[in-house]
Amino acid sequence: MEAVQRSWVMITCHLSMLFLSCGFQQDRLRQKIVGSSTDEALHSSGDWSYGCKDDRCGPSHWGDLSPDWELCKTGKQQSPINIATFDVVANPNLLPFDVVCENTPETIGANYTNDGHNFKMFRRGISVVIDGTNYTFSHLTFKAPSEHTFDGVQAAFEAQILWKSDSGAYAGHAWLYDYNPDESDNPYLMRYLQFLPLLHEKGKTLVNESTPFELPEVDIYPYYRYIGSLTTPPCTEGVLWTVDKRVYTISEKQEKDLVAALKGFSNRPVQPTNGRAVFGSVY
Ligand SMILES: *[C@@H]1O[C@H](CO)[C@@H](O)[C@H](O)[C@H]1NC(C)=O
Ligand SMILES: *[C@@H]1O[C@H](CO)[C@@H](O)[C@H](O)[C@H]1NC(C)=O
Ligand SMILES: *[C@@H]1O[C@H](CO)[C@@H](O)[C@H](O)[C@H]1NC(C)=O
Repeated sequence: MEAVQRSWVMITCHLSMLFLSCGFQQDRLRQKIVGSSTDEALHSSGDWSYGCKDDRCGPSHWGDLSPDWELCKTGKQQSPINIATFDVVANPNLLPFDVVCENTPETIGANYTNDGHNFKMFRRGISVVIDGTNYTFSHLTFKAPSEHTFDGVQAAFEAQILWKSDSGAYAGHAWLYDYNPDESDNPYLMRYLQFLPLLHEKGKTLVNESTPFELPEVDIYPYYRYIGSLTTPPCTEGVLWTVDKRVYTISEKQEKDLVAALKGFSNRPVQPTNGRAVFGSVY
């Protein structure tokens, strides 16, 4: 246990060092509003939603909207899920993983976009090795309320990173947040959510030329692990999910700002587990 904790501290320092090492870029900061989202592969068609008043749209209809999205309806390994913590299978092979962030002039720019469904941050130069597979960062996104639930309890907010390997495999990575009783903002999230007021219009993208990337205040450890899917169309399966066991805090205002920018909630309801096991790291 000692050894694991120590190695995690080293990873954190490694990340902070990279973060500091790009501080000199700060004077190049500039931002501008440009066209639309860059991740065409994940949003080939814009016609889905999280719901409408008369219940004729929303997540339960995604599978009917396009043949490419059938898994949203017929899939047996869909996400998000409720994690029943008493049923979690302890797995000593689930180790901390090492996120590497390059902050070079070519990689340090980020895009923030409101694609009409979700608020996302895209950036190059971030990778992670999970279970021996090297994934690169696709985007960071936020959900309100949370998509994953613990023992049936939904949190106020969830942050998710989607990773993608060279061979096209996905890994998802999630952290839940509850309201902070003292109403203070979450400073890590503020770094991203500060851009929301500029992105109230669907399709807007904001380019920030210097976004040094750090993981959230999160430990990545301990965590839950299961096999699921993308939580938006096309609901692709075989996604290796890591869900942080700890729940973090956010101000109600931060959560409300996301709901306002997206003009509604941004969560898919929990899906049946169909007997899937959820594993838990043990340290
Ligand atoms: C950000 O958007 C611009 C313009 O749409 C694009 O050229 C650039 O590749 C994007 N950067 C990232 C990291 O997605
Ligand atoms: C993972 O892939 C990225 C992007 O191709 C690369 O920069 C990084 O060095 C790779 N990491 C490892 C451990 O191979
Ligand atoms: C770009 O993003 C960084 C990190 O989030 C932030 O500190 C900075 O203020 C942003 N720059 C602009 C011009 O908004």
